[in-house]
Amino acid sequence: MTSTPATPSPRHMPSAASSYSVPVPSHDDSTPLGAEAEQHVALAHRVSSTTRFEQPDHTRVFVVANQKGGVGKTTTTVNIAAALALKGLRVLVIDLDPQGNTSTALNIPHAEGTPGVYEAIVDGTDLDELVKPCPDIDGLTVLPASIDLAGAEIELVSLVARESRLDRALQVYLSDCAEAGDRIDYVLIDCPPSLGLLTVNAMVAGREVLIPIQCEYYALEGLGQLIRNIDMIRAHLNPKLDITTILLTMFDARTRLSAGVAHEVRTHFPDKVLATAIPRSVRTSEAPSYQQSVLTYDGTSSGALSYLEAAREITMAGRQEVGR
Ligand SMILES: Nc1ncnc2c1ncn2[C@@H]1O[C@H](COP(=O)(O)OP(=O)(O)OP(=O)(O)O)[C@@H](O)[C@H]1O
Ligand SMILES: [Mg+2]
Repeated sequence: MTSTPATPSPRHMPSAASSYSVPVPSHDDSTPLGAEAEQHVALAHRVSSTTRFEQPDHTRVFVVANQKGGVGKTTTTVNIAAALALKGLRVLVIDLDPQGNTSTALNIPHAEGTPGVYEAIVDGTDLDELVKPCPDIDGLTVLPASIDLAGAEIELVSLVARESRLDRALQVYLSDCAEAGDRIDYVLIDCPPSLGLLTVNAMVAGREVLIPIQCEYYALEGLGQLIRNIDMIRAHLNPKLDITTILLTMFDARTRLSAGVAHEVRTHFPDKVLATAIPRSVRTSEAPSYQQSVLTYDGTSSGALSYLEAAREITMAGRQEVGR
C-alpha cells in the first residue's frame, strides 16, 4: 500500500455498465429504475436472512479516516456500528471529532462541558466513567466528543506520550470489559478531517484503517498523503496498523462519474474495497437530524440495507484476521 494513486480523469473513465460492481440484470437494460428495484429486493433478502453476525475472535479496532472532509466518515462510523450492534454484536464508537456529529447521530448528549473523549486523552479519566449507551440500539456504546475537544490538538503537544494516550485508555477499558465478561467485539473511531494529533492517537489505538471514499471527481486526491502517514505511523508507533477496508460512499448508479471513480479505486486497491458501495440517498442524509442511524430511521431504505451488507462483509473479513 505504498503507491500513490492518480486522480481519475473523466477522459479515461470506463462505461458505467462495465465497472459498477453490483451486477445489473442484463434482461432489463431499458429500465434502470426496474433494475435498481430488483437490486434493492435482492439486497433486502440477503441482509434480512442473516439474523446475527459472527463474533470476531478478538476485539477489532477500526480507525475511520480520510483527511478529506465530507466523504462519509461519520455516516459510515454511525451506520456500520449500528448494523453490527443490531446484528447482536457489542460495539463501542469513539467520536474523535470536535464537531461531535457521531454523538449527535447516535443521540448522545455532547453539549460543551459534557465529559467525553477530551477528558480521556487529556486528563486521563477512565473510559468507564465517560462511555454512554446509545438509547436506541442495544449493545452500542459511545465515547462522545464535545467542542472542548477542539483545544486538544494543541494541549496534547506538551503532554507525555501524546500520540498514545487514547491507546492506553482504550486498552485498559477493553481489558476491564473482557474481565467482566462483557467483551467488546468492535471499536470504531471516527476521525476529524485532518491528520493532526487526534487522528494520530486514533491510528496508534487502532489496528485496522477503514477509508471511506466518496464517488466524486476528486475522490483520490489526498489519498497518497493519507497512505504515507499510515506508513509512517506503522513504522514508528504502531506496527500492527493496516489499511484493511475501503468503502465507496455516495455512489450514484446513474452517473458515469460514480462508476468511473469506483472502477479507479477498485483497480488501485483490488483486495481492500468492499463489494458493497453505499448509494447516495436522501434517507441516509436525513437520519442524523432525527438523532438516528439510517438503520433505525428507515430500515428498509437502500442506505440501511447497504450499510448492513457492508458491515456483514467486514465481519466476514474478520475471520482471517490475527488477534491483537
Ligand atoms: N450515502 C449518502 N447519501 C446521501 N448523503 C450522504 C451519504 N453519506 C453521507 N452523506 C451526507 O454527506 C455529508 C458528509 O457526510 P459525513 O458527515 O458522514 O462526512 P465526514 O467525512 O464525516 O465529514 P467531516 O470530514 O466533516 O467529518 C453529510 O451531510 C451526510 O449526511
Ligand atoms: Mg465527520
